[in-house]
Amino acid sequence: MTHDGDRLVTAEADGDDQAVEAALRPRSLDEFIGQERVREQLSLVLRAAKARGGTPDHVLLSGPPGLGKTTLSMIIAAEMGVPIRITSGPAIQHAGDLAAILSSLAEGEVLFLDEIHRMSRPAEEMLYMAMEDFRVDIIVGKGPGATAIPLELPPFTLVGATTRAGLLPPPLRDRFGFTGHMDFYAPAELERVLHRSARLLDVPIHEDGAAEIAGRSRGTPRIANRLLRRVRDYAQVRADGEVTREVAGLALDVYEVDKSGLDRLDRSVLRALVTLFGGGPVGLSTLAVAVGEETETVEEVAEPFLVRSGLLARTPRGRVATAAAWTHLGLVPPQNTASGQSGRTAQPGLFGDEGPSAGSGGGAANG
Ligand SMILES: Nc1ncnc2c1ncn2[C@@H]1O[C@H](COP(=O)(O)OP(=O)(O)OP(=O)(O)O)[C@@H](O)[C@H]1O
Ligand SMILES: [Mg+2]
Repeated sequence: MTHDGDRLVTAEADGDDQAVEAALRPRSLDEFIGQERVREQLSLVLRAAKARGGTPDHVLLSGPPGLGKTTLSMIIAAEMGVPIRITSGPAIQHAGDLAAILSSLAEGEVLFLDEIHRMSRPAEEMLYMAMEDFRVDIIVGKGPGATAIPLELPPFTLVGATTRAGLLPPPLRDRFGFTGHMDFYAPAELERVLHRSARLLDVPIHEDGAAEIAGRSRGTPRIANRLLRRVRDYAQVRADGEVTREVAGLALDVYEVDKSGLDRLDRSVLRALVTLFGGGPVGLSTLAVAVGEETETVEEVAEPFLVRSGLLARTPRGRVATAAAWTHLGLVPPQNTASGQSGRTAQPGLFGDEGPSAGSGGGAANG
């Protein structure tokens, strides 16, 4: 990973977040805001299992960081009234690690496996059998004398979380009875998240104050909660403690998070692209040198949100600013600039091959 831990708008959790997140996590499906579809589907899965008196199917939750995967897994356990065991793919190095966890599960328990795409191969294969047959083979001894001792497991529910569903091997993906895809939150939903968090943190917040923060939160509750804490600091030190639109705006200006949730790095990439390279196309490595950052930082930290916001497009010929990028910087776009959003343009072929592979192609073209 690249060094974006000190950014206010990173969706990854930092130490500060972990400390307060426990307090801000919704504890039931009813309390969980947004993600209507996932919530409804999950609620059916859980209620049916309860009615049958059995354990729910294994659940896979996929989506970008900070949208509530860990929160939902805890809610699943709470709704079922069962304990939850929490571990993660990288923590399971050997199949034996997994066997130890599985064999100590209580009946009906929820096993939460975060970053499930990062589990080792042998552990993954053990998991297949555990998920399907509630059984594992414990290998005793080495070489030709090794024997497999089958071990029955109590029924349990595996909840896997991943930010990269595409990296899961199909046999693993297929063993989940239900997959919930988490999407970015609408501003109105983030406002509700903010009102709820403000109440729990005892911060007086106005409607327009919540709206101001929501608009800068990149569709991500974790970022919304983090910005709220910075705005609270500002409100206490420079104002009367109340979060109004004006206070929120001034506070986030201090932290250089703009109206669209772009921070200094995002804007410097955009500005370089627009002012130094006439809007592109320009290769990734050239762009990175221009802003004095590593290519990985530009590609993995800044670009995803710029692309998602329709401000930048990755094309086979390099990075291109959309018309919205110029407007965002307060500039007038040149006549023939792509209009943004989908990154499509009138020029045929130019945007024909988008996506991650087009991204690296762009880097090679000009780097
Ligand atoms: N729907 C929601 N309603 C209210 N708060 C939410 C919601 N979703 C997430 N949050 C808040 O956002 C924080 C981050 O959520 P969570 O840790 O569940 O994200 P995650 O998807 O597991 O992220 P990661 O991929 O980094 O593990 C939580 O502390 C919670 O307070
Ligand atoms: Mg999580």
